[in-house]
Amino acid sequence: MLRLVNISKSFGEVKSLENVNFAVWPGEVVGLLGDNGAGKSTLVKIITGYHRPDPGGEIYFHGRRVENLTVPQARRLGVETVYQEKALADKQSLWRNIFMGRELSNRFGFLDVARMRRETEALMTAKMGFTSKAVTTDTVVRTLSGGERQGVAITRALHFDAELIILDEPTMALSLSETRKVLDFVTSIPQAGKSCIFIDHNIFHVYPVVDRIVVLDRGRVAGEFAKAEVTLDELLERLYRVAKTGEMT
Ligand SMILES: Nc1ncnc2c1ncn2[C@@H]1O[C@H](COP(=O)(O)OP(=O)(O)OP(=O)(O)O)[C@@H](O)[C@H]1O
Ligand SMILES: [Mg+2]
Repeated sequence: MLRLVNISKSFGEVKSLENVNFAVWPGEVVGLLGDNGAGKSTLVKIITGYHRPDPGGEIYFHGRRVENLTVPQARRLGVETVYQEKALADKQSLWRNIFMGRELSNRFGFLDVARMRRETEALMTAKMGFTSKAVTTDTVVRTLSGGERQGVAITRALHFDAELIILDEPTMALSLSETRKVLDFVTSIPQAGKSCIFIDHNIFHVYPVVDRIVVLDRGRVAGEFAKAEVTLDELLERLYRVAKTGEMT
């Protein structure tokens, strides 16, 4: 699905990423771990076309090299990113958020509001698991809970055939049950044949839902393993070691 080769990113004197090699396979959930400032969000912003990497690095989608990746191009290639805060347009209704930038129109070229409402309604029951009677397709997103907002953002990504869904700390500031919902969404991503990069500081959230784990430390890949290779205890032990020495083993 995606391969980054020798990716570096400097901001003036600060080297946020240094020769990072990173790949995501189709149908795979990769957990990206690392301390504050390790470079996780910078890596995400390179994949979404928001940051241009330093010269010398290479980006491949589906095995094909992409030079000068831009945000719209990354979107066309199927990259969708869900952030805790910026994912949705607060003042707009739920159905408008679902179809934002991809509005359906009828054969006269007018917005097909009825159909967008209908499809949103179907997604709400089938995918988002909304049980609250208070939430309808016309509900303004600002009034939704954090978990419900995440649900809308992730459902949108799945609905529009995103190939790679990136979640950068989606459970930050969420309640226990809302977090559970987000983790269930993550589990449904490979079931839908899509890939995911999941960033979260809570290893107890990450471990159960990922296939592979990549650990960043001060801009470098400090370690990488399939979940089948490490128990949760071993992973914790290694993360402590990275924090102390910068080495995994
Ligand atoms: N636009 C920028 N300009 C200057 N420095 C930046 C910029 N973006 C990131 N950095 C620096 O790059 C380093 C990595 O930041 P990044 O946001 O990628 O870390 P992170 O792993 O996502 O951390 P966190 O877990 O706290 O979100 C930090 O030292 C940060 O200050
Ligand atoms: Mg970050």
